Amino acid sequence: MEIPAELERTIDEVITHYPASKRSAVLPLLHLLQEHFGFISKETADWVATKLELQPINVLEVVTFYPMFRAAPPGQHHIRVCRTLSCAMGGSYKLMNDLCELAKIERPKHAGHGTPFTVGEDGRFSIEFVECLASCGTAPVCMVDDDFYENVSRESAAEILAKYHEASPQTVS
Ligand code: FES
Repeated sequence: MEIPAELERTIDEVITHYPASKRSAVLPLLHLLQEHFGFISKETADWVATKLELQPINVLEVVTFYPMFRAAPPGQHHIRVCRTLSCAMGGSYKLMNDLCELAKIERPKHAGHGTPFTVGEDGRFSIEFVECLASCGTAPVCMVDDDFYENVSRESAAEILAKYHEASPQTVS
């Protein structure tokens, strides 16, 4: 794992925002590292622990507690489908099925703790259910990377996916 010098400079600067306890910098550091690597590997978590003078378990427990952190690599584009009440009633479970079918991804299965996500065979898309995305009046909603989509039907889901196919025609595998 290689941390680019500029990213490490940013990290060092962020740590100075928490003079009383470096430990409090764990969340912003994990966000920065996930933004760079796409997920938090065991190696990355260990690096953060060393940087903040913590035990590795102190960082791993944060990574596994907060659903926004991923411990495995996502696809080139990561899809989040809201499954909270308004979206569930507005069709988000059907939307999940439609997106999985259209993007050729296996539907995530919930298996105990954490938020599972699945990655399509070509590595282009990954998908997960998430809790309320704060747009309950426009259900069902989803996000692709940092882009937000409301009132998503099967037809608009197909259009949304096509946009990302055009934006990054090369697949990972
Ligand atoms: S319930 Fe889906 S955005 Fe709030």
